[in-house]
Amino acid sequence: MNDKIIVLGASGQIGTELTMELRNKFGNNNVIATDIKNAADEVMQSGPFEYLDAMNFKGLAEIIDKYKVTQIYHLVALLSATGEKNPQFAWNLNMGSLLGVFDTALVHGVKKIFWPSSIAVFGPTTPKLNVPQHTVIEPSTVYGISKLAGEGWCNYYFNKKGLDIRSIRYPGLIGYKSAPGGGTTDYAVEIFYEAKRKKEYTCFLNENTRLPMMYMHDAIKATLQLMDAPAEKLSIRTAYNINGIDFTPKELAIEIRKFIPDFKIIYAPDFRQAIADSWPGSIDGAYALEDWNWKPDYDLNNMVKDMLSNVQI
Ligand code: SER
Repeated sequence: MNDKIIVLGASGQIGTELTMELRNKFGNNNVIATDIKNAADEVMQSGPFEYLDAMNFKGLAEIIDKYKVTQIYHLVALLSATGEKNPQFAWNLNMGSLLGVFDTALVHGVKKIFWPSSIAVFGPTTPKLNVPQHTVIEPSTVYGISKLAGEGWCNYYFNKKGLDIRSIRYPGLIGYKSAPGGGTTDYAVEIFYEAKRKKEYTCFLNENTRLPMMYMHDAIKATLQLMDAPAEKLSIRTAYNINGIDFTPKELAIEIRKFIPDFKIIYAPDFRQAIADSWPGSIDGAYALEDWNWKPDYDLNNMVKDMLSNVQI
C-alpha cells in the first residue's frame, strides 16, 4: 500500500521544504499539506492543501479518513523566543497538539509519526560542547520544557501504545526557501538577507555565542533517513541528537566576508541572549550515526556559499 502523508505546519520553515521533499519521494497527491495559513506557492500548487488548526483534532480525523493517511509529520510549535512572550499559550499549543495528534492517530489507525524536538531541551546545567545523547537536561525556556515533556510522551506512546513515533533534536535550521519565526537561532538566517540587501546586520546575540546549527538540506535528509530506518535499529525513542555545524555570529560574519568583503555586523543583544546562553554550543550525534548512519553533508563554508547564492532579496 502506498503511504499517504499529512504534514501539520506545512507553511512553516521546515514544513515548506519537507513537504516538497516528501512529494518528490511519495508522489504529489500522496502528501497533504495543512496549516492555518497559505503555504508557499510551490506547496500550494504541487499537491493537496487543507486548512487545519493543529488543535482541531476532529478536523484532523476527517482528513486522515478522507485521504486514508498512514503517516503524520507534526511540525507545529511556538518556538523559543515567541514562547517566552506567551508561556501558557506555548505550552497549550505545543503539548496539547502533540497529545491530541497521538490520540487521533491511535483511534484512526495511523501508525507512524514524526515530531521534531530541539536542542532547546538542554539547559544551563548541560555540558556546553559535544553534548552527549544522555546528559543533564534541565531546560529553562517554556519551549524547551514542552519539547522535553514531548520527548517523554513519544517514548511513552511508543512503549505503551505501539505508536512508531520518531524524533530528532533539531539545532538551529538555516535555509533560503522559508523564513523561521520566533526562534533564538533565527539570526543565522536573517543575516544572509541583510548581508545581500544592506551589507550590514544588527545581531540580537553577542559575537561569541556558539550554537549548534544545520543547513536545511541536512535537516531534511536526517528526517527522511530516520523515518526510513528499520524500527528495530532505533535505540532512542525520545529524540535523537544529531550533529551539524556550530559557529558564533562572529565566525559566521567572517565566513560571509569571504564573499561580501565589506559586510559589517553590529551586536545588540536582546532577551534572546539569555535563551542562547542556556543552550550548548555543539552536539554529539553518536547514536544517530550508529543507529541510522547519520552524517551531515554541509560544513560552514559550503552552507554560507549556498545561502548567498540562493537567497532572493
Ligand atoms: N530554532 C529553535 C529556536 O531557536 C531551536 O529549536 O527556538
